[in-house]
Amino acid sequence: MRVLINFQYNPTQKLFFKDEILKDLEQEIKNSQNLAELEAIRLSLFGKNGEITELFSKLKSLPNNEKKEFAKKANEKKELYNNLISEKRSELEAKKQNEFLKKEAIDVTLFDEPINSGAIHPVMATMDKIVEYFVSQNFSVESGPLIEDDFHNFEALNLPKYHPARDMQDTFYLNIPNMLIRTQTSPVQIRTMQKMKKPPIRMISPGAVFRRDMDLTHTPMFHQVEGLVVEEGSKVSFANLKYILEDFLHYMFGDVKVRFRPSFFPFTEPSAEVDISCIFCGGKGCRVCSHTGWLEVLGSGVVHPNVYKSVGWKNVSGYAFGLGVERFAMLLHSVPDLRSLFEGDIRLLEQFK
Ligand code: DAH
Repeated sequence: MRVLINFQYNPTQKLFFKDEILKDLEQEIKNSQNLAELEAIRLSLFGKNGEITELFSKLKSLPNNEKKEFAKKANEKKELYNNLISEKRSELEAKKQNEFLKKEAIDVTLFDEPINSGAIHPVMATMDKIVEYFVSQNFSVESGPLIEDDFHNFEALNLPKYHPARDMQDTFYLNIPNMLIRTQTSPVQIRTMQKMKKPPIRMISPGAVFRRDMDLTHTPMFHQVEGLVVEEGSKVSFANLKYILEDFLHYMFGDVKVRFRPSFFPFTEPSAEVDISCIFCGGKGCRVCSHTGWLEVLGSGVVHPNVYKSVGWKNVSGYAFGLGVERFAMLLHSVPDLRSLFEGDIRLLEQFK
């Protein structure tokens, strides 16, 4: 105590000798409201020019006989305020953490009604079911671009320019010569053969297609699943096609009759459209099947030799098929107007939860 007076060391002198000032400091630490305030106090004591730091810098210049006591006192104070500050710091940190947790807390009991959850769109659910079947039959799933060239979408599929069958599909052409938005998933047949370079091919290709068309059963965008199986030599026949499509349609629609009806597609010969007995009237005839008892669900056929020619393949055989996913979804869920599937009306989607 004497030592400090000798040094006339004012701020610290108070620190050491005037009890009320020491009490004030203690109180100040205890009252600090946040970490920044506390840090300011700490710096005033322990910073570069802090009061306690200065005490220690005085130490060197003291007479030897006084050093020991001075150091002892200084260390006592150092420890005392260090402890007070670090206790207070823990307290303030805990307080800060609690405030943060309170602010971030989520009241899980807040909702007394279940939150609206989404549902898989019926078209996608139907697509998944279709894909699931063919994957189970060892088909690979391939994809191709939505913006196609004339070669892949038409020419390679035996639809040369000015072929009247091009009118079967109302094409969206682009301003770029020979480019269009694909009207069918059949171009993926060509792309897959080009990619694989040789048989065997056993693929499906699900995806969006586009046509200039809009009424009860047509929208400008819809989805198809294309299928193609090619083997070397003459291994693949119409019988294979018939077997897999019958099995597939039973998987999709249950116990229905399946009928193959001669038809025309440029990329298959012979070609067949496939019908199932009407699932609404059981084949007796109703409005949905236009009183025929049958519903058309697929196009198919034995791959036309010109299709192989376009990719330079010889001595191969195969079948192909294509279907509209929306048509399947409409039949499976009795949707009367195709356009309603694309209006995004939550009341429709809610029915598919
Ligand atoms: N691409 C045809 C269409 O969009 C559907 C189709 C029919 C695909 C017969 C085929 C097929 O592969 O063999 O109308």
